[in-house]
Amino acid sequence: MTKHVTFIIGSLRKGSFNAQFATIAAEALAHRGIDVDYLDFADVPVFNQDTEQPTPTAADRVRTQVAEADALWVFSPEYNFSYPGGLKNLLDWLSRPIKPFDFGGPTPLSGKTVAIASVAGKSAGAGVRAKLAELFRSPFTNNTLIGGEGTGASLTPDAFATGTASFDEETRAKLVAQAEELAAAIAD
Ligand SMILES: Cc1cc2nc3c(=O)[nH]c(=O)nc-3n(C[C@H](O)[C@H](O)[C@H](O)COP(=O)(O)O)c2cc1C
Repeated sequence: MTKHVTFIIGSLRKGSFNAQFATIAAEALAHRGIDVDYLDFADVPVFNQDTEQPTPTAADRVRTQVAEADALWVFSPEYNFSYPGGLKNLLDWLSRPIKPFDFGGPTPLSGKTVAIASVAGKSAGAGVRAKLAELFRSPFTNNTLIGGEGTGASLTPDAFATGTASFDEETRAKLVAQAEELAAAIAD
């Protein structure tokens, strides 16, 4: 069966530079016969244990989509040296057990192969990538991280003026190499 990687874009912005970066990775994966789908989590409610059960429809949808993915790739902007709140909220929903109240049992994130990338300011998202790597390295979720803290890109001022980010050859090559590593990791 064709393998598929679910892309999680940490920015909800329509013209997201992270979504632009992700298209390069999607193309590299397509060349290796891997499908990509995107996780739409804009409508997932703020996590509240009082309203966790029955699982709200939007939370149930994203949990199912992630559970069915062969791998995940998170592309996220850096907000205040860390992840955007919406992405953290999504990860909180994804970290809850598949069977209600089965704490210690599998979650939608359990055992997933995961890659990380970020487009941000001067830091190239080093802060958010480190935070994401810390989360995915925790023994609780037992993930395999591809490319460590992943590929980072810094925005140039013209990106904000034009709405289009440009990525240099070195950064593109690093992202494509990460895609190749991910493809190899999920191959039969
Ligand atoms: C609330 C907020 C906080 C931000 N904090 C940082 C930061 O700590 N480091 C950084 O490099 N960029 C920071 N930025 C800039 C974003 O990383 C940058 O605008 C990024 O391109 C947005 O990604 P997107 O185009 O995918 O939405 C911040 C932006 C916002 C809106």
